[in-house]
Amino acid sequence: MSNLALLCDTSTAATDLSPHWPQSDDLERHALREVLDSHSWYNGDRVREFEASFAEMQNAKYGIACTGGTVALEMIVRGAGIGPNDEIITSPYTFIGTCSAILKAGAAIRFVDVDPETNNLDIDQIEEAITPHTRAVMPVHFGGLACDIDRLVEICERRDLVLLEDSCHGWGAKYKDKGLGAWGLAGGFSFQQSKNMTCGDGGIALTDDEAVADAIGCAINQGRSRYGKADPRLQWGGNHRMTEFSAAILLAQMSRLPEHVEIREQNAGMLTRLLTNISGLEPCKRDPGATVVSWHVYGGRYFEDEWDGLPREIFVKAMAAEGVSLTTGYPEPVYKDTVFQQDWANSEVIRPFAWAAEDWVQDYRSLNLPKVEQYCIERISLKHTSLLVSESEMKATCDVFEKMWEYRGELVDAWRSGKISAK
Ligand SMILES: Cc1ncc(COP(=O)(O)O)c(C=O)c1O
Repeated sequence: MSNLALLCDTSTAATDLSPHWPQSDDLERHALREVLDSHSWYNGDRVREFEASFAEMQNAKYGIACTGGTVALEMIVRGAGIGPNDEIITSPYTFIGTCSAILKAGAAIRFVDVDPETNNLDIDQIEEAITPHTRAVMPVHFGGLACDIDRLVEICERRDLVLLEDSCHGWGAKYKDKGLGAWGLAGGFSFQQSKNMTCGDGGIALTDDEAVADAIGCAINQGRSRYGKADPRLQWGGNHRMTEFSAAILLAQMSRLPEHVEIREQNAGMLTRLLTNISGLEPCKRDPGATVVSWHVYGGRYFEDEWDGLPREIFVKAMAAEGVSLTTGYPEPVYKDTVFQQDWANSEVIRPFAWAAEDWVQDYRSLNLPKVEQYCIERISLKHTSLLVSESEMKATCDVFEKMWEYRGELVDAWRSGKISAK
């Protein structure tokens, strides 16, 4: 009889210990009821309270709530006055929303490779990627792990670039005790359902700059002034306003966040200490400046060679059979997405951008950034809910990782003999 659930004929997968998501209780229920009875359902006091509270938590002066993270990022690009014929450097290891936001603002993207140790942009490669069209850098603090912000700020200042943070995973996360999203000119956050605090769909833009806050507020509110002042740069906008229902839920969710952040930090610490001793696995490196990490996902790498060639997918299956759900992250860098694989310049059907035929634009279809390509093959991660468990449950998760490593020989034999496969 094998020690591993996957190899026991009678085995049924153990139950995953992580809690259901999203979470709510009477706090959300009462808050929603209050909005219903208030007859004020949009763009009112709760939205203003949420904007102020969230901005304060992240140490920013202004918060402008909106309908989603992609919208928040688009608005910070527009608020920075960046658009057609401008280019923004960003990471290829991200959700398509980062890119949609830049493109929707009319700007082009220049992808720069990642540092596989941190899962974030490789800061060493930024400067050589700058072109005369580059106006901004939009790093993604992926999973809530801060990039090396000091270096980003220094490069942006010296090269006259705007720093715009994709902090969509950064609720409560800090770099040198200052919130993510408050370091650059502006930052954007997501409250979509999978996120560590959520109202189903929602977002917020943060900035310390009053003029940028006004511009963003204007772009979210049909081009109309939101703060009593018209912004001469923006004559038009859309309707991207947050409702009072969303703000009420988010205020309730935010009151739970500090405790959740603390639990995830404790459990992530336990896991990191363990994984550091398993040579076949490597947790993401935490920048020394990252004083609080929000752990939207806990990421790392699986080194197949160290497991005698055992495919990552079998490892993931074996972990699941023991009750620990892992994900393998994005299968490909975001520039492999359909939208980037089209011939924008010559298509008879799609001609979204005037700049598409210009030769300064990165050729997305032939792009091959080696580190991110390899990273997608090696990535493994745990969702934030896997860290939102008791100390003993986290210990049980750690034990499963250790057990896999100890009995990897059994897995390898079963795979080589065809008893188990990656399918
Ligand atoms: C890194 C990143 N950026 C942007 C977004 C877009 O946020 P939303 O889905 O709220 O539009 C997400 C959402 O998953 C994300 O993970």
